[in-house]
Amino acid sequence: MQTHPPTDLSYDAALAALEWMVELGVSAPVGDDPVNAYDLPDRLAMPERPATPAPAPSPARPVPVARMEDSVDVVAVARAAAAKAATLDDLREAIIGYEHCPLKQGARNTVFADGNPKARVMLIGEAPGRDEDLQGKPFVGRAGQLLDKMLAAVGLDRSAPDPNGSVYIANVLPWRPPGNRDPEPAEIAQMLPFLARHVELIDPDMIVLMGNTACAAALGKRGITRLRGTWTEAFGRPTLPTLHPANLFRAPANKRLVWEDLLALRARLNAPA
Ligand code: URA
Repeated sequence: MQTHPPTDLSYDAALAALEWMVELGVSAPVGDDPVNAYDLPDRLAMPERPATPAPAPSPARPVPVARMEDSVDVVAVARAAAAKAATLDDLREAIIGYEHCPLKQGARNTVFADGNPKARVMLIGEAPGRDEDLQGKPFVGRAGQLLDKMLAAVGLDRSAPDPNGSVYIANVLPWRPPGNRDPEPAEIAQMLPFLARHVELIDPDMIVLMGNTACAAALGKRGITRLRGTWTEAFGRPTLPTLHPANLFRAPANKRLVWEDLLALRARLNAPA
């Protein structure tokens, strides 16, 4: 995104403009016109060549991600890293250590999961938004607060100790896409091995997929308005697709549909094993 340098903004107006740009996902300042760094006044005074040779790059220096992507099978690397994770802590570390997803560079936090790891239900969302990126926890912003209220209506609470009355929550992507844009298919594909291992380690009795990105990752298809409300199978477990809570801000009439889905979830939890 290009921005123009303000000329006579007050402190408050400048701060509001900056907050607005951060909200939109701006992560680096870019001007309208290309700048030749060698024409800048402080560069003009520099000698053409440094008097002493530049120090060799330290071996510990990270290789830029863009170059690695050209020669590395990033999905295979993710698969190998995920397979090695024997515990949730291992998996969190494996995700934090995975350097092949460019989203990581723009994120403040890796958003791993929240809730009760012993819960019978695992909820899968899309990706962190601004609040989740800041706090490092999934579904803590507006959509998360609505989700908590809807879950409470069917006796589910992410912080409850009872496996029958709690949920575990994770996202397809652990890093916020800039400006909350939709995740790219390549980003979903490269993070999928981590999600699959996450499901294996939690070992839930049932899964709820919230929205199209979760369906794309877990079922390989989109079309949430058609898929929602019908039990299917993902990662070898009974799975219920439903609308993403953020959808309900745009289309409040859809709350009725999500309510139906939550009742179906509750009924399955209550059914004798
Ligand atoms: N939307 C998501 O899909 N996940 C979050 O964690 C927050 C909002």
